[in-house]
Amino acid sequence: MNHTPQRYTITAALPYTNGPLHIGHLAGVYQPADIYARYQRLQNKEVAFICGSDEHGVAISMKAKKEGVSPQEIIDKYHAIIKKSFVDFGISFDNYSRTSAQIHHETASEFFKKLYEEGKFIEETTEQLYDQEAEQFLADRFVVGTCPKCGFEESYGDQCESCGTSHNATDLIAPKSAITGTKPVLKETKHWFLPLDRYESFLKEWILEGHQKDWKPNVYGQCKSWIDDGLRPRAVTRDLDWGIPVPVEGGEGKVLYVWFDAPIGYISATKEWAAREGKDWEPYWKGEDTKLLHFIGKDNIVFHCIIFPAMLKAEGTYTLPDNVPANEFLNLEGNKISTSKNWAVWLHEYLKEFPNQQDVLRYALTANAPETKDNDFTWADFQARNNSELVAIFGNFINRVTVLTQKYYDGTVPEPGPLSEVDSKTLQELRAYPAVIASSLERYRFREALQELMNVARLGNKYLADEEPWKTIKTDALRTQTVMNVALQIASALAILSEPFLPFTSEKLKKMLRIKEQKATPTWNEVSKEQALLAAGHGIGKSELLFSKIEDEQIQHQLDKLQKSKTDNEIANRVVDLQKETITFDDFTKLDLRVGEIIEAEKMPKTKKLLVLKVDTGIDVRTIVSGIAESFSPEEVIGKKVTVLVNLAPRALRGVESEGMILMTEDSNGKLVFVNPDAKGVTNGTTIN
Ligand code: MF3
Ligand code: ZN
Repeated sequence: MNHTPQRYTITAALPYTNGPLHIGHLAGVYQPADIYARYQRLQNKEVAFICGSDEHGVAISMKAKKEGVSPQEIIDKYHAIIKKSFVDFGISFDNYSRTSAQIHHETASEFFKKLYEEGKFIEETTEQLYDQEAEQFLADRFVVGTCPKCGFEESYGDQCESCGTSHNATDLIAPKSAITGTKPVLKETKHWFLPLDRYESFLKEWILEGHQKDWKPNVYGQCKSWIDDGLRPRAVTRDLDWGIPVPVEGGEGKVLYVWFDAPIGYISATKEWAAREGKDWEPYWKGEDTKLLHFIGKDNIVFHCIIFPAMLKAEGTYTLPDNVPANEFLNLEGNKISTSKNWAVWLHEYLKEFPNQQDVLRYALTANAPETKDNDFTWADFQARNNSELVAIFGNFINRVTVLTQKYYDGTVPEPGPLSEVDSKTLQELRAYPAVIASSLERYRFREALQELMNVARLGNKYLADEEPWKTIKTDALRTQTVMNVALQIASALAILSEPFLPFTSEKLKKMLRIKEQKATPTWNEVSKEQALLAAGHGIGKSELLFSKIEDEQIQHQLDKLQKSKTDNEIANRVVDLQKETITFDDFTKLDLRVGEIIEAEKMPKTKKLLVLKVDTGIDVRTIVSGIAESFSPEEVIGKKVTVLVNLAPRALRGVESEGMILMTEDSNGKLVFVNPDAKGVTNGTTIN
């Protein structure tokens, strides 16, 4: 495509409705997608920004099983929570649908039927993993095992979260049922496969030759490695009871693979939207001058770059994605974000603690987005981004301009006098920004684009600091008018250019400047023109603070919350041995436990674990061989009071007779510790009971 497209179909990965959204979702997928969609709308493009809930697949079934409710209850609950978070954070979808919608079931079924009827599938009976105890086939996340590619031991049946590879469940080494933990058996079942191998030359030409330059290196690299590894047929149906029924003969009791139906969800959601808006959906998916873009996280690359395009190609009438600007992952305070471990900043919780501060999070996440590598979100960085950037740079500039305009001119934009060289240069610089920011956005460099936006505020601050209207007001009225007029133009430019990034702030600022109350509301491209954005004589509103300082206590509170969820999680996952069989009191009194003291210690030659100890038991000084050498040096243990079982039958270890046992336990890192009452004042030989 050589000309600039007029129409953009922008999709953002459909989130699974098995939990709420966290900052990783926003940073990785929805925020860049939203910035891009908002920006293209400001370019007057026709935009369909599409998303919805991904409500099939094993992720949902598992969650339902765990909570003992139906999958329907799970999806209804999280669909509502997720949808609300998107609205709350200003993610400006044109349609947020869901894959349980009837239109989606129809669209996905028809898609499947068409490929089936045109012979695009291989139908094959193969042996699949089956859990005899749960009496069901184990697809996708229902089975875990060792990844054949990277050796990660907790890989899912269809995809390894560690290396990103997508494979067949039968490829897993040592598979285990995620439902019962048992070892699955193989059982025959019929499925339909998409023969990816048939699309190899198409994919090579389209991606490897066609998109080497314009796709992000992380995306291109993953695609290349899959194609180079050789593509194999992939099953697109499953033996599960939750999903879209396989709509062809022999498909009874089977459903479409979630990764077959979900991407078709983009199409269904577009249809739903078009019907509602009285538009035609087809140009958005089949039009020559439509640019299709998929915003996703890196774990979704194979599905969006290989499998879905192969499906679209097989179907034959659809456009292929122009780009798939996938991001890497965002970590949180040094650890992987985890829904199950509750190691996350949940969007709905954030808003309770930082009400109306969506843009602060949007800002911090974009400024620190994992665009080219995994990145870490820290609360300290969040605070600094707010206090030293949003408050100190953006907010400060706007505050000065609006306060001074009120003070000097009663809120009326002053008529400028002749422009000095500095004024002209400043305005010239300002007028370059729409193109500068656009160029970063067109290349999916959102961090860079945001930096450039902040440079507009920096330009304003520097201009005011150099021109000092608060000084010239006493000496030169006309000069002050000019400076304030220029500063107001910069403020308006900020209101317009910040919209994709900070939509709430942009709106607030536009209201404050009453931009929309002018005859013609200036748009993105008008920032580049000579025409003033705010005309002289226009009245602006009262000055309001755009951002406020975030205090250390607020940050500490967040850190404490994280620490607590870490501790809670550790407690919840603590594995302790089961209680042993009950014994009688007489059994207990048979144990002769004494307080003893280690008086000599040395390593047992040629062993790693054993120390030979001389222990004063109060009864005698005896030799005890103890397996503690990996946790203690001999010097460390001399003089330690310990608990000794003195009437244990002696036994020889490496030829040294051991006459008793020292009681030990283990700390959470596996280091041994003595079971040792604080026994300093206790005489050796005292009985413990
Ligand atoms: N639900 C998937 C995930 O969260 C993404 C689905 S994207 C779509 O990883 F293409 F399938 F829609
Ligand atoms: Zn792997």
